Amino acid sequence: MASKKIDLPPGVLQPREAVLAMAPYNPPTSGRNDKLRLDFNENTVGASPNVIEYLREHLTESGLAVYPEYDEIRPELADFFGVQADEFTLTNGTDEAIQVLVNTYVDAGDEVLLLAPSYAMYRFYSEVAGAIVREVPYRAEKLAFPLEELLDEIRPRTRAILIANPNNPTGTGTSRAGIEKILARATNAAVLVDEAYYEFSGVTALSLLDDYPNLFVSRTFSKVYGMAAMRLGCLFSQSGNVEFLRKAQSPYSVNSVAVLAARAAIRDQAYIQKYVMEVLAARELLYVGLEKLGVPYYPSQANFVLFQAGRRAIEIRDALRRRGVLVRDRSYEIAGCVRVTVGTRDQIRRFLTELEAIW
Ligand SMILES: Cc1ncc(COP(=O)(O)O)c(C=O)c1O
Repeated sequence: MASKKIDLPPGVLQPREAVLAMAPYNPPTSGRNDKLRLDFNENTVGASPNVIEYLREHLTESGLAVYPEYDEIRPELADFFGVQADEFTLTNGTDEAIQVLVNTYVDAGDEVLLLAPSYAMYRFYSEVAGAIVREVPYRAEKLAFPLEELLDEIRPRTRAILIANPNNPTGTGTSRAGIEKILARATNAAVLVDEAYYEFSGVTALSLLDDYPNLFVSRTFSKVYGMAAMRLGCLFSQSGNVEFLRKAQSPYSVNSVAVLAARAAIRDQAYIQKYVMEVLAARELLYVGLEKLGVPYYPSQANFVLFQAGRRAIEIRDALRRRGVLVRDRSYEIAGCVRVTVGTRDQIRRFLTELEAIW
C-alpha cells in the first residue's frame, strides 16, 4: 500500500496506513459511577453475589503469582454450553473474539460484510486489519434484519460476515433459519454470530456448529452475567477452526480472576433467570410508558430499546444525564434515536419519570 502523506505533529511516528485511515471510536468511559447507568446494556444490578463470594474464597496470593491456566474450567464451560471442550476458545470479552477471528481470516484488502448500524468493534477490527468494509443497512421499516439484502451482497471474495443477533443498537434479530441461509451462501467466509444478548432473545446458532464449518458464535459474560469488568467471552467453532483461532491468539489473554468468576457465574443460573425475567417485565413497562408519552420506539429482543426523540436526541440525552440517568445517543446512525438499557422495573420507572419531566 502506498503511504499517504499526512502532516503529523513533530516527534510522532508514522502509524500504519490502516490506522491513519480509520475513524476513532470513543465511547464515553468515565464519570458513570454515581449515575443510573442505562447506557451500556450492562446488568444494572451487578453480578451474582456468589461470584464475589467464590472469588473471596479462591483468590490467593500464590494464585495471582502464576500465569492463568484454562484446562480446569474448559470441560465445565463446554458442558454448560453444550459443546466439546475443543470447540471454543476463551477470549478477553467479545472484543477479543472479533479481533482473533479477523486476525485469523482477514488479510489487508479482503472484504468484510457488516450490517449497519451494528456493534462498532466489527468495523474497528476490520479497519485495523486493512479490510474493505461493505455495509448492508437494516431495513428502514421497523429496523428489521435485512436477510435478503445481505444474501444478495455475499460474494466469493467476502472473507468475513460479522452479525450481532439480536443486534445492537436496533434490538432486532433474525431466526436460526435466517442464519442458516447466510451460512449456506457464504461458504468462503467466516460468519460470526455475536450472541452477546442471547439470554434475552433465546435464539442461538450454537446448535448449528456441527453442520457449518464457516460458523463462529460468540458469547459474553459482560451483559446478563454482570461481569463486564472481567472482560470474558467465548468464541465457538468446529475444532479444526478453533486450533487456528488459538494459533492467532495470545496464550494468556484471559486472566485467572475472570476464569474463577466464570465458574461461579455459570453455576448460579437461578440468578440469571431471575434477572432476565425482571428485564423482560421492565421492557414491557418501558413500552407502556413510552406509549403513554407518545414516544415512538422499536420493539427489541434484547435488554435495550431504541426510542425516537427526533431533533431533540442529544438534548434529551444531556437533560437525562443532568438528572442522573445515562442513556446513549444513537442519532448519528439512526436519525433521532436514543438507546436506553432496560434494567429493573424500579429503574425503568425512574427513567420514565425523568423522561416525562423533560419531554
Ligand atoms: C453486540 C455486542 N457484542 C459485543 C459487545 C461487547 O462485549 P464484550 O464486553 O464481551 O467485549 C457488545 C457491547 O456493547 C455488543 O453490543
